[in-house]
Amino acid sequence: SPVSLNLNYVAPFVADHEWEQLRPAVSRAHRLLHTGTGAGAEFLGWLDLPEKGNHEELAHIEKTAVRIREYADVFIVIGIGGSSLGSKAVISGLNHSFHSFLHPKKKNSPDVFFLGEHFASDYTAELLEALDGKSVYVNVISKSGTTTEPAIAFRIIKTWLEKTYGKEEAKKRIIATTDREKGALKTMADGEGYETFVVPDDVGGRYSVLTPVGLLPIAVGGISIQDLLAGARAACREYNEEHLMHNQAYQYAAFRYLMYQKGKQIELLSTYEPKLTNFCEWWKQLFGESEGKDGKGVFPASATFTTDLHSMGQYIQEGRRHLFETVLYIGKSRNKIEIPQSKGDEDGLDFLSGDHLDAINEKAYQGTMLAHTDGSVPNLILEMEQLDAFSLGALIYFFEKACALSGYLLGVNPFDQPGVESYKQNMYALLGKPGHENRRAELEERLNE
Ligand code: PA5
Repeated sequence: SPVSLNLNYVAPFVADHEWEQLRPAVSRAHRLLHTGTGAGAEFLGWLDLPEKGNHEELAHIEKTAVRIREYADVFIVIGIGGSSLGSKAVISGLNHSFHSFLHPKKKNSPDVFFLGEHFASDYTAELLEALDGKSVYVNVISKSGTTTEPAIAFRIIKTWLEKTYGKEEAKKRIIATTDREKGALKTMADGEGYETFVVPDDVGGRYSVLTPVGLLPIAVGGISIQDLLAGARAACREYNEEHLMHNQAYQYAAFRYLMYQKGKQIELLSTYEPKLTNFCEWWKQLFGESEGKDGKGVFPASATFTTDLHSMGQYIQEGRRHLFETVLYIGKSRNKIEIPQSKGDEDGLDFLSGDHLDAINEKAYQGTMLAHTDGSVPNLILEMEQLDAFSLGALIYFFEKACALSGYLLGVNPFDQPGVESYKQNMYALLGKPGHENRRAELEERLNE
């Protein structure tokens, strides 16, 4: 498998009998998942998604992506949460870090920008400013079709497109990814005749990166969705085993559970690859939204090293001992950078000349991992030989599978998110949405106290 779990360094924190005693609970959770008898079973479409492979849909995605890549300078993805984090994670994980600054002749795909993830005026205004003179295509993504952040962003972008290209041409530049039949976005897409893709009913937002939600933006970003899905397919087969000792995704879930029971309530997903910073954001949503309910759940946090060793490093090493760490480690980079010779050795770094940056990064990782372990932060390592579409597809599925199992171990429904509604209801009331009048008065009174 492109992803492998290294448990060598957690031995001091978990005894063999603890793993063994968790085995029946893992088997039970596995059966709940695979027989569709657990909480939230109506959202298990992601489980065999890579195996099922909808060829007609994939062909449609690829055809649309080819057209957009030919005609667009900029592709705007409008969505929030599960509708944007997956594609953002994969695109920034695999594309050139400075894609926007490359000479147009060196780009083989449009710049992909994200909107609708907040209500920030400056970001929105600056994006519109940056679009001036560019050929722009838009993918508006919302499963419910009614989420406020992307809906408002879409209003703004639609108005800009119509003003820039005229109504008819604007329609051809908008692709909507939404529910098969319901929601305001679906109604609008049908009315205007936008090209559409469907978010399957049985796949929740945070599990939807391998559906058209993630696949269209990823394909437009110039990444092979066939390779991504092949990696997910390999993982889907590999993490199908019920037995804890034969399933690394379950070992990861079981380890988190054991840590949580021991009072380690925060998991830090750390990476030495800045390209994976957005992947950590995707992971945070997956685990945070799946497990954080009923007053329970490991709090998912993330850090990019060695950058954050110079900010969070002190806390991790010596602060409150409620942390465990999962290190996402990539063996090889695509590029080799050699440390140059320097006459006079003024900086005292000549002992490194001729070494590669990768080798230094590896020593930083090894040193940190041992230091954190000594500081009572258990370090579990997830190793990937290289960062490519196949490995990332496998990693996505690894975490999805582990997360579902982890939720069942914890006794929660890993596929709902009732808590997300609370802020929305308050916001609607404060904005004066019809039907929320009573709540508005009550909230305003509290705010004016
Ligand atoms: O995982 C989830 O369900 C959420 O994060 C949603 O993806 C997010 O709220 C966006 O919802 P929608 O796609 O309906 O606009």
